[in-house]
Amino acid sequence: MVEPLKVDFQAPGPIQGGDHVAFVGDDLKPAPAAAERIGPDAVALIARAATAEQFKGKAWSAMTLAAPSAPLVDRMIVIGIGGEKDRAGFDWARLGGVVTGKVSGRHATLLADFPGLEATPENLADIALGARLRQYSFDRYKTRKDDAEAGEQGATRLTLAVPDPAAARRAHKLRDGLASGVILARDLVNEPPNVLGPEEFAIRAEALQKVGVAVEILDEAAMRTLGMGALLGVSQGSRREARVVIMRWNGGRSSEAPVAFVGKGVVFDSGGISIKPGGGMEDMKGDMAGAACVVGLMHTLATRKAKANVIGAIGLVENMPDGNAQRPGDIVKTMSGQTIEIINTDAEGRLVLADVLWYVQDRFKPKFMVDLATLTGAILVALAQEYAGLFSNDDELSQRLVAAGEATGEKVWRMPLGPAFDKMIESKFADMKNAAGRHGGSSTAAALLQRFVNGVPWAHLDIAGMGFGSPQSEINRGWASGWGVRLLDRLVKDSYES
Ligand code: BES
Ligand code: MN
Ligand code: ZN
Repeated sequence: MVEPLKVDFQAPGPIQGGDHVAFVGDDLKPAPAAAERIGPDAVALIARAATAEQFKGKAWSAMTLAAPSAPLVDRMIVIGIGGEKDRAGFDWARLGGVVTGKVSGRHATLLADFPGLEATPENLADIALGARLRQYSFDRYKTRKDDAEAGEQGATRLTLAVPDPAAARRAHKLRDGLASGVILARDLVNEPPNVLGPEEFAIRAEALQKVGVAVEILDEAAMRTLGMGALLGVSQGSRREARVVIMRWNGGRSSEAPVAFVGKGVVFDSGGISIKPGGGMEDMKGDMAGAACVVGLMHTLATRKAKANVIGAIGLVENMPDGNAQRPGDIVKTMSGQTIEIINTDAEGRLVLADVLWYVQDRFKPKFMVDLATLTGAILVALAQEYAGLFSNDDELSQRLVAAGEATGEKVWRMPLGPAFDKMIESKFADMKNAAGRHGGSSTAAALLQRFVNGVPWAHLDIAGMGFGSPQSEINRGWASGWGVRLLDRLVKDSYES
């Protein structure tokens, strides 16, 4: 088992023994304060070792000196932060991830002085955030210890030696809920689909009551009464019952309308009767990454006591083929009253969201809604795993999302909506059809969703490329990313907290 990382902040003390992490620029020099602390012999040693190792101090690169005599420590880990051009919008979380990757299996002390950069308490907290996210590994189902430990071990403890530990600790306390929110989302996405059905997922979401989130669960009988025929149509081929979970965090003024986040929670997407090919189908346990992000976000907002009123709503279903499954050709009636002809039972996410979006705007009259969904393979064709697709009826909300994306590194790219795409989903037999062929597949999916937001300012994030199957990065060892928690936490913080 990889243990969760413990992070603490201390005033700088004498340097002796253990692992120490220091930072240098592309001139191989540490910041003056750090140079003074490690001493001139150590500074000279770093320069000499760098030549020998061809270490250039480039951003995110690292060099380890084992058992140096100056200073007399077990290991000196030197991490590059690059030059002038690397300093604009410096990614502190990423730096924390690099540190964790290097101090594997040890307790390390980080000398928090950075050449050419002044770290604020928030920046230091971001280092701790990145360090914790890099540490994460999902090995719950590995019963052989050596298998579980085959990978990186991460640090056991990380001490940041900082000038003002109290301020850093305060900032860290606020940021810590963000790390656990991302980790909660990753855990949900990683869980196998036999363990995490709609009901089990709902129970995990219900646990947010412990941090002060009000949680309400709708079962299928309640959904039937509400007329959620589109969501129920997807669920009817599964032995497991669907759930809709409504989470509420009321940290703002009671007179203030909430903002709402809606997640697609298809716990497993086999495609249904329009069954998917077998290769890679196991990845479709991650088709609930949108819902996982919403749960992680609500956890984060509650633990940092965000001054905002926020609704999180998730539609949890399993898309399976059986004798009772819906067919291509079926027509379902949504809660809004609009009808949808099923062309392809694998276009199920939009059916789930159609009913949940309608329900949320109808009941809560939110200022805006943002939905997250692993909705279309087509968005991967367009944007790879670099950007989530952003579709919106509101320019201001779009700009705020783009800005939050730049700030957190969870980037979004605006894609088109409009009458042409809307026309492509016209049906011969119903008000619309759920699939319109390959061309513009992400935009026609978004066009369908737009018919269920009733004019409320809304943004749809197609995260099919972002939620799972993610490549390894400095802050993630791979697969489940917890994508979107940092983005939306930032959106709420920068734009909507009173
Ligand atoms: N969950 C899938 C989309 C998906 C594909 C997510 C790959 C992540 C990776 C979605 O339900 C789906 O099957 N979409 C179809 C829609 C088509 C049938 C109109 C698709 O993208 O092929
Ligand atoms: Mn599908
Ligand atoms: Zn799906």
